[in-house]
Amino acid sequence: MLYYKQRAIDQIVILTGAGISAASGLATFRDTGGLWENHDPMDIATPEAFARDPDLVYRFYNERRQQLRAVQPNVAHRALARLQQTVGQGVFLVTQNVDDLHERGGSEQACHMHGELQSMLCRHCGQRQRALATFDGKTACPACGERGGLRPDVVWFGEMPHDMDRIEAHLADCDLFIAVGTSGAVYPAAGFVQLARHAGAITVEVNREASDVAGFFHHHYVGCATDQVGLLVDELLAARVG
Ligand code: APR
Repeated sequence: MLYYKQRAIDQIVILTGAGISAASGLATFRDTGGLWENHDPMDIATPEAFARDPDLVYRFYNERRQQLRAVQPNVAHRALARLQQTVGQGVFLVTQNVDDLHERGGSEQACHMHGELQSMLCRHCGQRQRALATFDGKTACPACGERGGLRPDVVWFGEMPHDMDRIEAHLADCDLFIAVGTSGAVYPAAGFVQLARHAGAITVEVNREASDVAGFFHHHYVGCATDQVGLLVDELLAARVG
């Protein structure tokens, strides 16, 4: 059994955002001005942009997938993995990030509510499969052989996030909710802290600065995730009984 601030903790939900991967060198969305090839990523990550200029959108995600190959998970990813390995089923990790740094940092469970760069979806056969390093509208789907159907398996603005029922079930049952490196600017993830509080959970924010929903958190670890997440995990594991 874990204890946090003298309270028994059975179920933990952890939400991560771009801030946990920033220290690995991956740009966040709102910190850096986020302009890519003179386009705002917010204008590219949409079904309308894909319909309007598919090659621009394919290029954007191919370039982010290439960038991912050059970066490594950091100590914050590894600290969360250590918590998951030690506590087991009592930790549910949900991430807004589409990178694979949680998995490469040792997490065996990570719910990608916004999809994954390393996955691609064929609109002809519906198959989700490991993304090719680069692909576009002329690439044949490895599953069905059709061309013109492959798209990045990433949730665009206006599309439904993945696994919301499962996420909400974990939030309704959690005793501790931890948000790491997210601005609280985008729903539904920004509303998770309120669902956790409604369930009676203790809520903790780890961020370099106050997020848009900072007021809903009981405790704040202010600083870089690579410093703060390890401190929090050590605090939780030091108070473990049995
Ligand atoms: N350590 C801790 N926090 C950090 C660090 C760091 N090294 N660097 C940045 N941050 C924090 C910033 O203070 C900010 O609150 O991470 C957050 C990054 O916010 P965003 O760029 O808005 O990223 P995120 O919250 O993940 O965005 C949510 O919006 O654009 C959509 O789908 C996209 O998943 C994304 C979603």
